[in-house]
Amino acid sequence: MIKCKINNISYEFKPNLTIMQACSSLNIDIPRFCYHERLSIAGNCRMCLVEVKNSPKPVASCAMPLMNNMEIFTNTLSVKKAREGILEFLLANHPLDCPICDQGSECDLQDQAMVYGSDRGRFYEVKRAVEDKECGPLVKTVMTRCIHCTRCIRFTTEIAGLPVFGLTGRGGAMEVGTYVDNVINSELSGNIIDLCPVGALTSKPFAFTARAWELNGVDSVDVFDALGSNIKLDCRGSDVMRVLPRVNDLINEEWISDKVRFSYDGYKRQRLLSPMLNKNGKLEECGWMDIVSVFKSNLIKNNAQKGDVIGYLGDTVDLDTTVVFKDFLLSLNNNAIFKTNYQGVVDFRSDYLFNMPLNAIEQVDLCLIIGSNVKLDSPVLNARLRKHFVQNNTLVVTIGATTSLTYNTYHLGNSLKILLQIIEGKHWFCNRLVKTKMPLIIFGSGFLSDQVSVNFLKLIKDWLKLLSTVNLNVKTCSLNLLPLNASFVGSLDIGFQQVLTIKSKSKTRLIYALDNLKPLYKKREGDFIIYQGHHGHNVLNKADIVLPGSMFHEKDGYYINLLGMTQKGRFVSKPLGLAREDWKIFVFLMVELFKSVTFNNIIATNLVLKSYINNSKQKALFLRKRVNELTPFVENEMFVSDINFLTLTKYSKRIYKLNNTISLNRVTNYYMTDTITESSVIMAACSDKFVLEGSNYLQSF
Ligand code: SF4
Ligand code: FES
Repeated sequence: MIKCKINNISYEFKPNLTIMQACSSLNIDIPRFCYHERLSIAGNCRMCLVEVKNSPKPVASCAMPLMNNMEIFTNTLSVKKAREGILEFLLANHPLDCPICDQGSECDLQDQAMVYGSDRGRFYEVKRAVEDKECGPLVKTVMTRCIHCTRCIRFTTEIAGLPVFGLTGRGGAMEVGTYVDNVINSELSGNIIDLCPVGALTSKPFAFTARAWELNGVDSVDVFDALGSNIKLDCRGSDVMRVLPRVNDLINEEWISDKVRFSYDGYKRQRLLSPMLNKNGKLEECGWMDIVSVFKSNLIKNNAQKGDVIGYLGDTVDLDTTVVFKDFLLSLNNNAIFKTNYQGVVDFRSDYLFNMPLNAIEQVDLCLIIGSNVKLDSPVLNARLRKHFVQNNTLVVTIGATTSLTYNTYHLGNSLKILLQIIEGKHWFCNRLVKTKMPLIIFGSGFLSDQVSVNFLKLIKDWLKLLSTVNLNVKTCSLNLLPLNASFVGSLDIGFQQVLTIKSKSKTRLIYALDNLKPLYKKREGDFIIYQGHHGHNVLNKADIVLPGSMFHEKDGYYINLLGMTQKGRFVSKPLGLAREDWKIFVFLMVELFKSVTFNNIIATNLVLKSYINNSKQKALFLRKRVNELTPFVENEMFVSDINFLTLTKYSKRIYKLNNTISLNRVTNYYMTDTITESSVIMAACSDKFVLEGSNYLQSF
């Protein structure tokens, strides 16, 4: 332990702390601009100066390691004078434009000048001016306000892996910018807006639309990928004005992707405002009771009772809605078929989760990524992987994706045969694999969306278990799926899994698409399609009925992320026009169609979902009962059978056709992946600027 005195009081600290970290652990406030917990230490703003006994000058506490018998003073006259001096220098060139600055009320310089600054200035010279930089459609720059803290430079270099920012010039000519004219082509670029302590980098779409003190923050969850990053929707009235991250060390730390941060302008564009019926190929608005009479008509009854009833689930649907949707379809037809994007085995919960906790990634010493471009599939997760892989110089090999993930990767090829060779122990990579202690093996969307590859998963599960037995060093070797959609784990948890065989030979099909456009593209003769969703689309006129539902911020909804953690997105505003919360639509239809049915499941649904959160004994029992009602999934560890290489090889050759290649990745245009982002003008601008020929990796400038 390190013994030292802070402000004349003796303390003991664990080793390897800086003075600032030690003081922060005691709640002693030290002002700072350049220091950030998640970035490397730069020590260039000097705002954190403290006095250390026997040191001739004040020292920067963020960069100075704590040493034995140090005597530190954080509130002496010389410290106060030093801070005043630093602020005076910073303000010498900082423009006094707070009334028109978007950082107003959230500016560290404003706050610290109030607390630590002098009450008068002595600077009568002309302030220097710096030309603004064009950084693309998301980040607005006013570089005259920059105080050279270098947080943005460190973020882009260390976290985003895109070293576009840097410092040029010396002294008064020093500037932060892109060395050559360049946009910030990263899926995480919006985070530099949060990091900039002054108004030099602000949000371009948010510029001059609202002041921070007018906004109310509502906690929510990112539904644009499966990670479930924690977000805050800043609203004025019922309008979402901006989206910011919330800190959650287990998931997103404090970063979010540009897609969730900037697609909020799509929340109100192209919305479905009333129910619609298709009359001769044209959708016409109608009332809710008109919909009921169509439902009662023979056409739907016939389709529902004699034909197939197929439910398609969308990517952003919450748990509540999925449960009710499933019950509704079953009440239409007991043999209803459910379709999701996933066709794999879901016997156990661990079969479809990312089983390694994200804070264990720092121990990973080898990574194998199969069929995923993690940078586009989950940019925040990729940033987390990057941080540890670069720090520890981890070997990362990929099968399927050749694109840059912002860290060094070794591409093994695109064929499933390579995977089988690895499983059979016939590939050079196996030598590395058996020497690892903590391998991370990720199966991404390119792998999961393909039926032949997904058949492999059973074999892979056996292989992972075998690997743990063969390699005694290995601490854990888990199956880690990286799906694309927020509804993936939740829907599988409650048994909304893909049914592969359609038993009925009927040609008529009643298709209920909940926020999923796929069946509209594949409409066959004899299909009757009901589409329920929140945004319009040019294929909607293929639907026979269109029902206006709600978006994720228009209802309280639970989402289970890829790690299996349940999170709640909260209600911000009512659905627009005649649109209603999705579960209410199903209840309404059930009540109108089957008057004799008592729809107790609604109560069950809420209780089930709450039990995930509260985890109280009684509710957990209820959860199990309800889950068992809905699905055969058992949350027990899989029984490990004895297998050896010989049986494994025979088994694999017998069952699997190996001509398939693993697709590169499913996301081609990162900025437009669903109806919300397709309706967003900001996302359209990003798509225009950053995406060329369907690839995010070809430079568009
Ligand atoms: S632009 Fe902002 S974050 Fe970047 S160096 Fe300047 S003040 Fe710091
Ligand atoms: S916070 Fe220590 S030098 Fe900037």
